[in-house]
Amino acid sequence: MNGETSSFGAATFASATALYARQTAGFEARLAASLEVLQRAVAEHGSGLLQSTSLGAEDMVITDLIARHRLPIALATLDTGLLHGETLALLDQTRVRYGLAIEVFSPASEQVIEFVRVNGERAMYDSVELRKNCCGIRKLEPLGRMLAGRSAWITGLRREQSANRADVPFVEPDGQGRSKINPLAQWSWADVWHYIASFNVPYNALHDQFMPSIGCAPCTRAIAVGEDFRAGRWWWEESSKECGLHATHQETGVAA
Ligand code: ADX
Ligand code: SF4
Repeated sequence: MNGETSSFGAATFASATALYARQTAGFEARLAASLEVLQRAVAEHGSGLLQSTSLGAEDMVITDLIARHRLPIALATLDTGLLHGETLALLDQTRVRYGLAIEVFSPASEQVIEFVRVNGERAMYDSVELRKNCCGIRKLEPLGRMLAGRSAWITGLRREQSANRADVPFVEPDGQGRSKINPLAQWSWADVWHYIASFNVPYNALHDQFMPSIGCAPCTRAIAVGEDFRAGRWWWEESSKECGLHATHQETGVAA
């Protein structure tokens, strides 16, 4: 969508590029630094390197950089089984647009079935413990399989995303013996959308519905004006709003 806000039924839509894209001083330098981080990671890790994409705006920028600069980096995503239709549609669109394979890792179905049988489909709302158990089964277990045999993974973490992430470096240990590469660590939200607008990068339609940070459907809502970037994630909790994928950036005492 372009330009103005419009409504269809209950939902309100606004072009995320029109809302957020802005070129600010230093953008070209931040872009060059990110590319250098990716190139260095390729040199260091070769086929041990993987982009872990949620198909969020940051990850789409990274995928575009990988494709544009023909970097030999594999792509993979975690399909928790509870993603939005819009996210799954973007997965296919991304494969077609870039001609890249994106491997999908899903949770073990017997674990999901047992968890839902015992705790119900809405267990994540019942307690933080159950919510984290759900993340453990649907995200962390498949993440382990996704990263098996890899020495480094690329994420879209940015310092600006939350207080927890304020110190995200370009490269850090992930706590499991691998390196985590965060090429957009220094980017602002305006930078992300300036890149998306400049290179016509496909993006999740939910970003046009005021969802800057997108996870599973039951655990993501739109944010209101003035709310924090991650306010729509696990909004009913007072926790760190992390699921355990990025354990090194969790508040003390609330790790999954
Ligand atoms: S989360 O931990 O709260 O879910 P967030 O949505 O901010 O993470 O995404 C941060 C980074 O984690 C993404 O840029 C991506 O690298 C990785 N990530 C998050 N969700 C997924 C997913 N479903 N599949 C693969 N990678 C993911
Ligand atoms: Fe389950 Fe919500 Fe975690 Fe997704 S984000 S794995 S639905 S608790």
